[in-house]
Amino acid sequence: MARLLLSLLVCVLCSCFVATAKLPNIVFVLVDDWGFADVGFRNPAISSPNFDQLAKTGLVLNRHYVFKYCAPSRASLLTGRWPHHVYQWNLATDATAGTNLNMTMFPAKLKAANYSTHMVGKWHQGFFDPRYLPINRGFDTSSGFLCGSEDHMTQNAICAIDYWKNNAPDPRNGTYDAYIYRDDLTDIINSHNTDEPLFLYLPLHNVHLPLQAPKEWLDIYPANSTCDKRHTLQAMVSVADNVTGHLVELLKKKGLWDNTIMVISADNGGAHCSGSNYPLRGCKETLFEGGVRSLAFVNGGLLPESRRGQSTDGFIHIADWYTTFCKLAGVDPDDSGTGKFSVDGLDVWPIITGENEKTQHEEIVLGYNFDFNHPGQGAIIVGNFKLLVGLQNAFECDSLGWRPLNYPCSNGLEGPDCDPYCLYDIINDPTEKNDLSKKNPEILSKLLDRYHSYSMEPRDMQDQGYHSQFSVPRDPDACKYMQSNGGYWRPWKNL
Ligand SMILES: *[C@@H]1O[C@H](CO)[C@@H](O)[C@H](O)[C@H]1NC(C)=O
Ligand SMILES: *[C@@H]1O[C@H](CO)[C@@H](O)[C@H](O)[C@H]1NC(C)=O
Ligand SMILES: *[C@@H]1O[C@H](CO)[C@@H](O)[C@H](O)[C@H]1NC(C)=O
Ligand SMILES: *[C@@H]1O[C@H](CO)[C@@H](O)[C@H](O)[C@H]1NC(C)=O
Ligand SMILES: *[C@@H]1O[C@H](CO)[C@@H](O)[C@H](O)[C@H]1NC(C)=O
Repeated sequence: MARLLLSLLVCVLCSCFVATAKLPNIVFVLVDDWGFADVGFRNPAISSPNFDQLAKTGLVLNRHYVFKYCAPSRASLLTGRWPHHVYQWNLATDATAGTNLNMTMFPAKLKAANYSTHMVGKWHQGFFDPRYLPINRGFDTSSGFLCGSEDHMTQNAICAIDYWKNNAPDPRNGTYDAYIYRDDLTDIINSHNTDEPLFLYLPLHNVHLPLQAPKEWLDIYPANSTCDKRHTLQAMVSVADNVTGHLVELLKKKGLWDNTIMVISADNGGAHCSGSNYPLRGCKETLFEGGVRSLAFVNGGLLPESRRGQSTDGFIHIADWYTTFCKLAGVDPDDSGTGKFSVDGLDVWPIITGENEKTQHEEIVLGYNFDFNHPGQGAIIVGNFKLLVGLQNAFECDSLGWRPLNYPCSNGLEGPDCDPYCLYDIINDPTEKNDLSKKNPEILSKLLDRYHSYSMEPRDMQDQGYHSQFSVPRDPDACKYMQSNGGYWRPWKNL
């Protein structure tokens, strides 16, 4: 009887909701190179009161997977494809390439539901031709920088200033970038027409190299408590925390928060020598959990009360937000067509609401057959198990190892590389200590079959035909062009 009453009540509530509901506001905050333990609620040495509060009153995503470095993770998010179905290389500043124009980025999808769409921060999806600019990929406005990294204080990238607003260089260079973003967020939210649903993408440049932070934020940490690198990274996290907290305040003041879903995630794990992915193994640039299992959580007024203060072990890949956001906006996520893979992301809203926390994915392809330093490298998750194929990139520090919580000033443990495979039970061995590839040949063979099934796909469509970042075409004259055209990075080709 109680149950019947409850379901009646739920029905009544639902129909009210349907009758009056406005489309949800969607906010995605992407923090660059943010380690699994580079946040206060996992590490008392980090001051991040806003993130901590959002996680504490929100839902922590324990198994949120991303690519092992920047541009592909973003391409995967924006196009809803596995990284190898978009690309798995990082775009150089002078690259004459970008995210496949035939793929509809989800902000463009959201336009079909009349969303007002904005991005503030780092693009890194190509800009040599104006058609690749954010403003031509579904964003009504964009503000920030176009390449992968730049000086946080001056906005200089290699040979020119990289600061861009909508369709033109932005002359506000010369201020710590996160502060400029904070101002832009204020303008965007305050001038937002609340009759329209809002989509805001905030890919912060913090805490990516170069390690730089304003003095007032360095000063909140005790001097000499950590080495310089770590000290600066701590301060950079605190700035990211402050900007995100500011955004939440703006959304609340404007009355948008109650109808908002906000996702906060890293684009990949903390970088070698500066970030902390404790207790996970490895870091950015490796497919170990420290590289690809990201710090992530969800909040906003639309998160059901029953999920607040909880965490979920449901598997999510960053590509899933494409489908999830389209569904929330009532837009068809289909983006199939010739010359491109269709969307891989699945609707993970049932994981967020707790309605069904089981992953809908039969497998998650973390990377497939890419050719960075080690041809044929990749990784796949099937059920409890994760297969890593090929040597992981052993950069400096102890990128193959396990680091103490307040890395990198003290040495971590160095681990063995995957030669030719590693196999882990990531549910029972989340820190990847016990390689089963030799002990458990049956499971190894099952996962290898799944992994190699992707060899049936047209290779010339994988990675958009460039199978190494070194084969992505670059323009040797790009710098000359920028220097004789105002000193700002800008599109330099019209195809
Ligand atoms: C986009 O699709 C068209 C038509 O199928 C094709 O000619 C073109 O090469 C595709 N572009 C890319 C970047 O794949
Ligand atoms: C979007 O706006 C157009 C023009 O005002 C309107 O015709 C259409 O119904 C709107 N679509 C949605 C999904 O609200
Ligand atoms: C911004 O960049 C331009 C172009 O390089 C330069 O002329 C200007 O001095 C810079 N502004 C600041 C405040 O650094
Ligand atoms: C921090 O360390 C540096 C170099 O070892 C030293 O010169 C400085 O006095 C120390 N500062 C404090 C506040 O202990
Ligand atoms: C951000 O930092 C400024 C300067 O320290 C402070 O006044 C403000 O309260 C902070 N905002 C949030 C939301 O943390």
